[in-house]
Amino acid sequence: MLASLCGIYMALDKKTLSSLEVLQQKKSEASGDNRAEQQHSRGKLTARERINLLLDPGTFQEVGSFVTHRGVGVDSDQQKHPGDAVITGSGRVNGRLIYLFAQDFTVFGGSVSEVVAEKICKVMDTAIKNGAPMIGLADSGGARIQEGVISLAGYGEIFRRNTMASGVIPQISAILGPSAGGAVYSPAITDFTLMVRGISQMFITGPEVVKSVTGEDITQEELGGADAHASLSGVAHFVSDSEEECFSTIRDLLGFLPQNNLDDPPMGPQDDDPERIDESLRESVPQDPSRPYDMMDIIETIVDDANFLPIHQAYAPNMIVGFGHMDGRSVGIIAQQPSYLAGVIDINASIKGARFVRFCDAFNIPIITFVDVPGYMPGKDQEHQGIIREGAKLLYAFAEATVPKITVVTRKAYGGAYIVMGSKHLGSDMNFAWPSAEIAVMGPDAAVNVIHKRKLSESSDADAERASLIAGYRESFANPYLAAERGYIDDVIDPATTRPVLIKALESLQNKRDSIPPKKHGNIPL
Ligand code: HXC
Repeated sequence: MLASLCGIYMALDKKTLSSLEVLQQKKSEASGDNRAEQQHSRGKLTARERINLLLDPGTFQEVGSFVTHRGVGVDSDQQKHPGDAVITGSGRVNGRLIYLFAQDFTVFGGSVSEVVAEKICKVMDTAIKNGAPMIGLADSGGARIQEGVISLAGYGEIFRRNTMASGVIPQISAILGPSAGGAVYSPAITDFTLMVRGISQMFITGPEVVKSVTGEDITQEELGGADAHASLSGVAHFVSDSEEECFSTIRDLLGFLPQNNLDDPPMGPQDDDPERIDESLRESVPQDPSRPYDMMDIIETIVDDANFLPIHQAYAPNMIVGFGHMDGRSVGIIAQQPSYLAGVIDINASIKGARFVRFCDAFNIPIITFVDVPGYMPGKDQEHQGIIREGAKLLYAFAEATVPKITVVTRKAYGGAYIVMGSKHLGSDMNFAWPSAEIAVMGPDAAVNVIHKRKLSESSDADAERASLIAGYRESFANPYLAAERGYIDDVIDPATTRPVLIKALESLQNKRDSIPPKKHGNIPL
């Protein structure tokens, strides 16, 4: 009796399983009609191919794969595909849990229907509850036109979750196709946006609308392609030549980030000697204070294995931001680039730096600042575009940050820019200077012109007099020792020892506890 019952059970089970297999086969295909080939012919991978490339093999756990859209009209009820236009779930990257969604352009152009929005929101909620990074792979025609306002409502729900997740879990957006209209605001709220040359476009309105409203002729790539957003708007943090390279960047980036705001960043490899000194650093800063040098070389010499991940590399290159490891510990590095605009702080540099400092602070990543700054950028354009308000962002971000903050002044630290770039007065924990540092209200030339204006106008040999006054000013003020006497600089160090000095400082600050007054939120100048 029991055996025959088991037989019936087995027979039913086989039938059930085979229909499940059919359904699984259907959902794992792109939506038929050679849609996968069409996607490839656009130079793009399918959503499943992308997931396979991003995740550790065999780790993808899909959710919502049987969900279908609820739309009616304009033939949409004829075109139901399991999962609709997005694939959602979780998986592992280098063994660490992440949640993701991948928009499927082969179904209604990846457009966001009510159920697509529900699926994305569900996986975002799960990521927040479980404290794991959220990665969005975007490739979408925007709101599902057939669903009208219901689709817009779905976008609103996504934006709200992006905002709630901000500062709680890292959020990363890879734009791997179109991202148009209001849809761009979801990636814009996330922490990092990656784009791929030739296939990614982001714009509020496409070229046709631009043409009809402003009369400008512009291609999609010029208007909202990867390079435009990486170098001009700063919307893209990373740009790649292929999707494979984009996923590899995401994997590298995650290697520096904690899972959430209550977690510490993961340790990197510890195979670079923490006591390593490098005498080449003594030659890094040229004798002539007006000669440029490449701060990137200094950073790469100091971090573990010369492995530095620059962010926003093509945007505001006068400010460098990015991640490295120091004896295995993740650090956020912010620095001037003296070889571009002399490392001056302009509006774009301030915004770039401020957003980075706030990210590090939100996610427990210590900040190391390398300073060689002649000041804030003067001029009508910058003033009228609001350098007062925009420059304040960087100041606010540094002052508010409670993570360990360590500063090294390599050369110039003048005026307000001295204060903003991780000075003691904004709460930096450890401040070092190289002997080449010049810390003063302004540079010698400008200072002499102001304080000796009358003397110079009355001098019979103004040029010789100016040269002698500049030399005197440099001797008295353009050095690190006045600041060190006051304790604003904790130590003046041999540049060759910068790596071991920074690693010891990081160790001494690893249990730092600090907080800001309780408040609903601050009001950063926007
Ligand atoms: C429904 C859409 C769609 C959409 C594309 N499709 N966008 N279906 N809703 N929003 C469908 C197409 O009908 C087509 O279906 C398939 O996806 C592929 O589209 P193609 O046009 O053939 O592809 P391509 O030539 O590569 O052009 C892609 C595109 C274009 C640039 C994205 O489709 C396009 O301009 N779409 C509309 C974009 C847009 O204006 N969206 C609304 C933005 S406003 P078939 O079956 O023919 O293959 C918005 C508001 C958000 O999103 C609000 C948030 C606050």
